[in-house]
Order: sequence, then C-alpha cells, then structure tokens
Amino acid sequence: MLKVQSLGGYIHEYQKSVTQPEIFWDRIAESFHWKKKWDKTVEWEFKTPDVKWFVNGKLNITENIFERNLFTLGDAPAIIWEANEPGEASVTLTYNALFEKVCTFANALKAKGIKKGDRVIIYMPMVPEAAVAMLACARIGAIHSVVFAGFSSSALADRCNDCQAKMVITSDGNFRGTKSIPVKAVVDEALETTTSIESVIVLERTKIDVSLKEGRDFWWHDVVANASSECPAEIMDSEDPLFILYTSGSTGKPKGVVHTCGGYMVYTQYSFLNVFQYAPGDVYWCTADVGWITGHSYIVYGPLLSGATTLMFEGVPTYPNAGRFWEVIDKHKVNQFYTAPTAIRALQAFGLEPLEPYKLDSLKVIGSVGEPINEEAWHWYHTHIGKGNCPLVDTWWQTETGGIMVSALAGITPNKPAHASLPLPGIQPIIVDPDGNEITGNNVQGNLCIKYPWPSMIRTTYGDHDRCKQEYFSTYEGLYFTGDGAKRDHDGYIRILGRVDDVINVSGHRMGTAEVENAINEHPLVVESAVVGYPHDIKGQGIYAYVICDMENRSEASLVNEIRQTVTQIIGPIAKPDAIQIVSGLPKTRSGKIMRRILRKVAEKDISNLGDTSTLLNPDVVDEIIKGAGL
Ligand code: WTA
Repeated sequence: MLKVQSLGGYIHEYQKSVTQPEIFWDRIAESFHWKKKWDKTVEWEFKTPDVKWFVNGKLNITENIFERNLFTLGDAPAIIWEANEPGEASVTLTYNALFEKVCTFANALKAKGIKKGDRVIIYMPMVPEAAVAMLACARIGAIHSVVFAGFSSSALADRCNDCQAKMVITSDGNFRGTKSIPVKAVVDEALETTTSIESVIVLERTKIDVSLKEGRDFWWHDVVANASSECPAEIMDSEDPLFILYTSGSTGKPKGVVHTCGGYMVYTQYSFLNVFQYAPGDVYWCTADVGWITGHSYIVYGPLLSGATTLMFEGVPTYPNAGRFWEVIDKHKVNQFYTAPTAIRALQAFGLEPLEPYKLDSLKVIGSVGEPINEEAWHWYHTHIGKGNCPLVDTWWQTETGGIMVSALAGITPNKPAHASLPLPGIQPIIVDPDGNEITGNNVQGNLCIKYPWPSMIRTTYGDHDRCKQEYFSTYEGLYFTGDGAKRDHDGYIRILGRVDDVINVSGHRMGTAEVENAINEHPLVVESAVVGYPHDIKGQGIYAYVICDMENRSEASLVNEIRQTVTQIIGPIAKPDAIQIVSGLPKTRSGKIMRRILRKVAEKDISNLGDTSTLLNPDVVDEIIKGAGL
C-alpha cells in the first residue's frame, strides 16, 4: 500500500493525483484484492449527481480485511477491547479469531433470512460484536445502518422505517460510566412503530432482564451456537451499497448517507495509513463510537483493511476518573490516539493531576476530529498528551466524505495549531465566494467546496436522490458543497471555520436546527420555536432554543424541564437544549422568515451589532428577547 514517506513525496503524489487522477487511483486500487478488475476508474458528473468509482469492479471488503491479510497476520491482534469497568479483563481478537466470528455471525444472519441488499440496523454498545455485526453484513452483502445507541426509540424507529430494515441487532443493555442503559427496552418501544422489522438479535452484555418476543427476538449466543464458521464472501459490485449512515442536515429529518463498496474501501485504507502513518505492530486507538462515521471509517474499516490493531473502548473519558484515557494508553501501549476536541476540553478542565500517574511514552501520533479545535485545546493536547513531540493531525471530513479530506500526514506535512492544513492526495478542495467563484491565492476566506470526485464520497441519500442533489450539489453548480466555511492562511493552510448552514456541532455531533425545533414543537404547549448554536466552552457549540409557549399557569422552570424531556424522548439526550428562553414572539421579516442572525447574536451575548431591526414585522420583540436573555 502506498504510504507517502516525505514532504517531497506528498507534493509529488498530490500533483500526480490532480493531473492524472485515474492513473493515481488505479495504482492505489491495484493493491486490493478484486474478484474482477474495474473497466473504468471513475465516471462522474456533479449535476444529477452521478458518481461511480472502479466501474464494474467486483469485490468484497471483508475479503480485503481477512483473506488478503490472514496469510501474514492471522495471529496478529485485530481488535483490543477495553471494557467500561477498569477491573473487567480486556479482550484481544486476532485476525483469525475475528474472521471466525464474522463468518459465524454472517451464517446466523443468513439463517434468519438476511440476504444481499437487505438493510440491517445495528444499535449496540462499543463491544467487538458491534464490529462483528457490521462485517458480517458486509460479508453477505447486507447493508448495515448503525444507529448510535444514545438515540431515542423514536429516532431509532424513524431510521428503521426510512430504510425499511428487516432486522435490528442490539444488546440487552449498555454500560457507560456509572450508568447501565436498558437498550433492548428502547428497541422494544421503537418496534411498536416500525413497519418492516422481522427479527431482532440480542447480545447479552449487562445481563439485565429483557423480554424476548417469541419468533421475533433471539439471543446472539443462540443464533451462533450451531452456525458454521465458513462463509464465502458475497461478490459485490464496486457501486453496490456497503452501508447507510443517518446524519443531520440543514433541513428536515436526518438523511441516510449511502456509501458504496469499492471506493469506500480504497479511500478509508489509503487515508488511514497516510494520515496516521500506521506501521505494522502499532496499536491504534480512536475513541469515537461506531454509531458515527469516524467509528465506521477509522475504528473498523480503515484500520482492519490495513491489518492494524484497533482498540475499542466501551466507556467514557471520565469514568472512573478523568485519567481513564491516559490509563488505557499506557495499559495497551497505544501508538496513535485519535479523539475529539470536546473530550480534550473536558479533560483539560480537570487540570494536570489526572495525568500524573501516566507516562504516555508509547504515543507517536495524536489526532483530532469532529469540530474545529481551538488553539488552547490544541496546545494543551500537543504539550501534555503528545509531550511536544507527537505530530497532531487535525482531520477535517464529514459523514458524506467517508474519509479524511484535509489533514496533516503525521510527521510528513507540517501541522499548525487549529489548522486542518493540507488536502490529502486525490482531494481537490476550493474556497468559493457567495456566487460560487473560486477564490485563489492565500489569505482568503469563503465557503468550502470540493471540485473533483473522490472514491469514498456520498453516492446518494437513501430513497431520495433529489435530497442529495439539493443538499450538496445545487448551492454551487458543478461543486460538492460541504456546508463549512474555511480560510486559507498566508502559508496556504486550510483552517475550518465551522458550519455556515443551519447545522449545529454539539460535542462533535451534528444536529440540524430544524430537527431540534421539530422535536421541541411536539410539546403540546409549544406554539413555535427557533434554535441556534452558540459558543460553549466544552461542547464547542451549545443549543439555544427560543420558545413561544402557551403557559397555562405553569411555571417557566417546569415548562423548560418538560421541553428538555420532550427533546430527549424524540431525538435523544445529545439534542437536549443547553439554554431555553421562553419568549412571546420571534423576530421575523415581513415575509415571515425568522431572523436567526439576531437570535444567534443574543445567544452569543453580543448585541453590539444587531443591524437594522426597524424593518422587522415585530421590532419590539427584539428588546424583549434581549431583556429576557439578561443582557
Ligand atoms: C465538522 C465527522 C473543523 C465540520 C467526521 C463538518 C470539523 C462536520 C473537523 C462533519 C475538523 C469535522 N475541524 N471542523 N477537523 N472535523 N468537522 O459528519 O463542520 O459528524 O462539516 O463527520 O464536523 O461532521 P460529521
């Protein structure tokens, strides 16, 4: 596999990837095991959009993880699992052992009627079986859709129904820090409103009481008991879907981003090896959850395709104390550590004491993902975790991009605080003005777009291709629009400035303002609401909701509480507003559009420059809102 070795090498590869993209990608794709080679490297147009990579190639991604690697790596550790409780023994699965589990579970899925193209929902804790479930689906060509286990039953049901999934794979419960969450009970509630689920497989994890519905629900240990451990890989077309992952956009309900087999395989391995500069024998740890794209690409697929050892952690950074991450790094001699700025900021707040017992001297590379990393957190992470001598890769990418797009390559290209820095070879980002004209040169700022396809890009939004077109390909003709603002500094390094659309990034998790508003509006006394993001010390952005309510003699405090509850029920605790302000009206233009800019300013506690409010339909309401916010 082609690992860039030097800055000169990067410049050379990058040049080649732009001038001769097909030759560049062919050479990378050739290092994989294909059942049949592709006829054409790429076919694309961004209008429809219609993008195909490695056209007519045939493969199975799990053959590239197992059969391709087993010869040399069978006894090497594939997954090291660290439990929530520090006292519970960790588990190591070699490539051979993981392969056996994947094939056995794949046969169990088949026995329950799952076949190529069927959708399977995975709603599980961070245990190796979550990866086994994903890979077993991939083995037989079923399309997995992992739903983060913190989402509510109604969010889960929506996703099951949207993709008409046939099966849910889950667990009895889920340990997270001091909490034990009754996951199966959430699934049971979701299944009251699902329309297509035929069976449920339940992994025993917390051993709490669960009810199993006869003929529908089965224990994991029962379904694998008599299954064979041999399962030939289904032959997949490059463009057959590999998985669907739901993510929030600027409008409506979350949409199912579809990734396909060939391109996703090629790009996740290429980007993993190059960004982290993984070397054989290293232990790599990404702290994300498999429910997010980071867990898909950089806990499961990228590392396992590379024959790497990937660590999976079930718990949370602060349990049993704020030294847990550092303890795990020392315990398993982690070489590459990849986490989110929100975790860094939360741990930074505990000071240096939790770090004292730990050496952290195995670390070679540290990484950041999910949101802009502020300079203070960058320096703390670099100095105290990386001890000043680990490259810090600030990796910018999205659910839709499938893999890391802009990032330093560890130790190869320079890293600069708070800058994602340079595009990976093969990635052609540009900054555009509001009309979509490319802004060239340095020291410029605008909206971030990508002008040429890359193998792991989104192909469609499940069941609604037009939505994919509207969200990403119609703002600027001929370009993929990321929804992020960016700056190219005087050295030519890219700095991501954050979302420019109605998406809020809370602790690295994407929430659509419309989605949160819809949830708030479900409360029977809510008349209307408007949600904006505002700066939050730990979470990066917090959720601020302005709500018009029919008070019905209730106290404001009890209503606010109920609204929080409603959002938790409809989406999950991650969408719970940090601040709720009850208002009598919302600032609107004469055409009835909510002036979010004003609401954002108030939430930011900056009312110095509200602009002309006299043309609003209801200018008085602005003063009331300012007063209500205590400003
Ligand atoms: C943001 C997560 C700044 C960005 C992989 C993007 C970042 C959204 C970075 C995607 C970064 C992600 N610096 N911002 N290094 N990484 N983002 O789909 O706003 O959960 O559009 O994918 O997170 O979030 P998603």
